[in-house]
Amino acid sequence: MTDSSKTATLTIDGTSYDLPLLSPTAGPNVIDIRKLYAQAGVFTYDPGYTSTASCDSTITYIDGAKGELLHRGYPIDQLAEKSHYLEVCYLLLYDNLPTAAELEAFEATITRHTMIHEQMHNFFRGFRRDAHPMATMVGVVGAMSAFYHDSTDISDPRQREIASHRMIAKMPTIAAMAYKYSIGQPFVYPRNDLDYASNFLHMCFAVPAEQYEVDPILSRAMDRIFILHADHEQNASTSTVRLASSSGANPFACIAAGIACLWGPAHGGANQACLEMLKEIGSVDRIPEFIARAKDKDDPFRLMGFGHRVYKNFDPRAKVMKQSADEVLDLLGIENNPVLQVAKELEKQALDDPYFAEKKLFPNVDFYSGIILEAMGFPTSMFTPIFALSRTVGWISQWKEQLSDPAHKIGRPRQLYLGETAREYVDVEDR
Ligand code: SDX
Repeated sequence: MTDSSKTATLTIDGTSYDLPLLSPTAGPNVIDIRKLYAQAGVFTYDPGYTSTASCDSTITYIDGAKGELLHRGYPIDQLAEKSHYLEVCYLLLYDNLPTAAELEAFEATITRHTMIHEQMHNFFRGFRRDAHPMATMVGVVGAMSAFYHDSTDISDPRQREIASHRMIAKMPTIAAMAYKYSIGQPFVYPRNDLDYASNFLHMCFAVPAEQYEVDPILSRAMDRIFILHADHEQNASTSTVRLASSSGANPFACIAAGIACLWGPAHGGANQACLEMLKEIGSVDRIPEFIARAKDKDDPFRLMGFGHRVYKNFDPRAKVMKQSADEVLDLLGIENNPVLQVAKELEKQALDDPYFAEKKLFPNVDFYSGIILEAMGFPTSMFTPIFALSRTVGWISQWKEQLSDPAHKIGRPRQLYLGETAREYVDVEDR
């Protein structure tokens, strides 16, 4: 990775420092500044990490200009079309697509870890019924370290693998239980005869009083949503998981930290915020008013579901998601859904508007996922928990990659200090 012949030279007050230039397999070169402070006595400054690589990774690559997303080299549109979520989980966890036998064994393992410790059911009952499901998920996932302490020794590769399988397997059960609890319905146990996405839909929408058959088009759309949210390089919540893990925290605590970060409306909370915005707009004739507000520097309003830190082209996931939205709405016969009409017209007007074109603000993954989830019957409060469920494999894969690097160390950024220099304490009577 380090081509010693390539260096970047930094000159400060007449003194030059040669910094190694690291060559990636794809993407921009990276200036290795690990020795900069020791050599030159200076820090770099990059709040928001717009130009900073926090780690090296082989899992996911994004080309924001091209709108390209690769998982272990496989383009997201091919995976969404030809693969399924548990196979993508295997790919992210174990570097390559599985053989038929490997996939069968992996799916059998995940299927048999979907139940949670029966005593955890009581844990849900400590929450108010109207608690946001994300609050419940942060609490319940964090508490898993109290129930599964036999897979918290992060120095043991086998325990790391068991914790990984438990997280992937149990997140749908926990998310479904958070939903059932919020609507006052009984928990529905996972079923081993259903595939991953169908099992989740069954746990959410089945009731003990009658049979519930999962529609294959809806489970396919659900599985595709899981694939499209699985991993996304070093986004805010993944970076949170990596930073928490760098202190040696147990995997369940690290994932709970990732869930907490994902909750924000600028990140995973955007799908909920997007649908709430579409409902607030209410009709296509109010779209110009909201577009004007989004363009107004003095108005903090932003178009939820638009823009991205990395994609300065169409989010490739949004393209696939848009196709899914059409399929689901055709099936459910709600093509006249006013929210969808507003969404389609908003996308058209925003993409025609020079402001969004100049700032390269395109619909992102959250723009269409909310529409599909609402059409399926999920309340907006369940949109981010579903994002968290899907992203768990990405968090776990990045967590595993970081721990497998013997050179990894605790993350400890420095700062640009602008506060007071040292001064003497003044007694209160003298102030
Ligand atoms: C996700 O990182 C990931 O990979 C995240 C994610 C993943 O899979 O993990 O892809 C998931 O979080 C998708 C993004 C979901 N968030 C939203 O949809 C919320 C709305 N979008 C914005 O808040 C914003 O676009 C961000 C936070 C997503 C990105 O912001 P940046 O890159 O920090 O860019 P910025 O805020 O500096 O904005 C650049 C300019 C600004 O104008 P100027 O100051 O240059 O004049 O674009 C404007 C912003 O005002 N702008 C918007 C806008 N987003 C940015 N203007 C109107 N509407 C918007 N949505």
